Amino acid sequence: MHHFTYKDNELYCEAVTVREIAAAVGTPFYLYSHATLERHFKAFDGAFEGIDRLICYSAKANASQAILRLLKNLGSGLDIVSGGELYRGLKAGIAPQKIVYSGVGKRVEEIDDALSAGILMFNVESLEELELINQRAGTLGKKAPIAIRVNPDVDPKTHPYISTGLKKNKFGIDTRAALEGYLAANQMAHVNIIGIDCHIGSQITQVQPFVDALESLKSLIGELKQKNIDIKFLDMGGGLGITYNDEAPPHPQEYARTLVQALKDMPVRLILEPGRVIVGNAGILVTRALYRKTGGAKNFMIVDAGMNDLLRPTLYGAFHAIWPVSKNKYETIKADVVGPICETGDFLAQDREVPGVSHGDLLAVMSAGAYGFMMASNYCSRPRLAEVMVKDDQFEVIRARQNYEDLMIGETVPSFIE
Ligand code: LLP
Repeated sequence: MHHFTYKDNELYCEAVTVREIAAAVGTPFYLYSHATLERHFKAFDGAFEGIDRLICYSAKANASQAILRLLKNLGSGLDIVSGGELYRGLKAGIAPQKIVYSGVGKRVEEIDDALSAGILMFNVESLEELELINQRAGTLGKKAPIAIRVNPDVDPKTHPYISTGLKKNKFGIDTRAALEGYLAANQMAHVNIIGIDCHIGSQITQVQPFVDALESLKSLIGELKQKNIDIKFLDMGGGLGITYNDEAPPHPQEYARTLVQALKDMPVRLILEPGRVIVGNAGILVTRALYRKTGGAKNFMIVDAGMNDLLRPTLYGAFHAIWPVSKNKYETIKADVVGPICETGDFLAQDREVPGVSHGDLLAVMSAGAYGFMMASNYCSRPRLAEVMVKDDQFEVIRARQNYEDLMIGETVPSFIE
C-alpha cells in the first residue's frame, strides 16, 4: 500500500500533484511520501506487537536525514554498515543504544567510532575482526558488545548479487566456526557476548528461508547455553521483499507470525533490520521524456534520468513500473526507456509496454525509494538529484539537487601541472 494514486487522471503523492512538484524543483527527482513511510514502519513494527523487539531500520536502503529522523521519531533504531552510516544515524538523533553494526570490512577508525559512540552491538563477520574489536576495545578502555553474524547456508531464492546467507557468500561465519568464535570471544577480556545475528539476503518473497535460518541460529543458541554463553539479542537481519511487479511477498503480519511461532519460549530480544519493505514503495523517481526514436529493431524513449540515478534495472535486471504523471490519451508503445548516459546498459526498462509520451511529458518510475538515491553516482558528471518529501498537502526539498560546482568539491590541480 502506498500513497501514489491517480485522481482525475493526475498522479498525486498524498494530496499534492507530482506535476506541481516537478514544476517547482525540476526533473529528475526522487519523491517520498511521509504517510507511506509512517504506515510501512508501523505495519512492520506493529506486526511484532507484544514481542520484545527492536526494529533497526537498515540505513543503506535510504539514509537521507529526513527519513532517518522520521523513523527515529517512530521509535526505530538503525542497522549500519559503515562509519558514514553511524555518523548519519547519530546526526538524525538515533540513540547509539539502538544501533547495530554489520559489515565484512569494518576499518579500525570505524570500530573506534562505534565503540566511542556506545552502539548496541557489533555483528562480527570474521574471527580476525573479532580479535581487532577486542584489541581496540582494550585500547579505548571499553567493553565491546558483540554478536556473531552466522552464515546459516540457506538459499533465500533471490537475485545472486543480493543473496548473502549461502556458504559461498562472503558474509558471516559458518555455523561451526561461529561456535569456535563464541568460545574464543568468551575468553577475550574486552568483548561482551550479547547476541547472535544473521542476514540471509534481500528481496526475499517467501518465509521459509527465514525459518530455516532461524532454526539454525536456535540450535547454535542451544549449544552456547550448554557452554554457559547466554544470548540476549537475536538479530534476524532484514530482507523481506516487496511488490515491484507481480511478486507476492509475505505480508509483515505473516512474516512476524512465522518468526514469533518459531521463537516460542526463547527468552531473547528480537532485532530486525528491514530496509526495502519500509522505504521501497514509499518513493518514486520522477523523470521527463526528452525524445523518442525508432532504431533498426526497437523503439527508444529517452528520458532525463539514467543508470547513474537508478542503477537497479541494469545491475540486477530489476523491474520498476513506469507510470505517466498525467494519464492523457497516450497510445501504448513497446519501447526501451533509456537515459542520456553513454552506455548500452543505461536503461530503466526494456521491451516494455509504456505510455507513448512525448517531449516534456513526465513519467514516474515506481518503487524507487529503496536503493535508488543511495546507489546513485555522479557518472558522466551528472549532478545528484534532488529529493523531496510530501506530507499531506505540503512538500519540501529534503536534499538539494547538486550543481556543477558541487561536482568538483575537493578537486585540485596539482602544482606540477601548469
Ligand atoms: N541488514 C543487513 C546486514 C543487510 O546487508 C541488508 C541489505 C539489510 C539488513 C536490509 O535488507 P532489506 O530489508 O532492504 O532487504 N542494492 C540491492 C539490495 C542490497 C541489500 C544489501 N543488504 C537492491 O537494490 O536490491
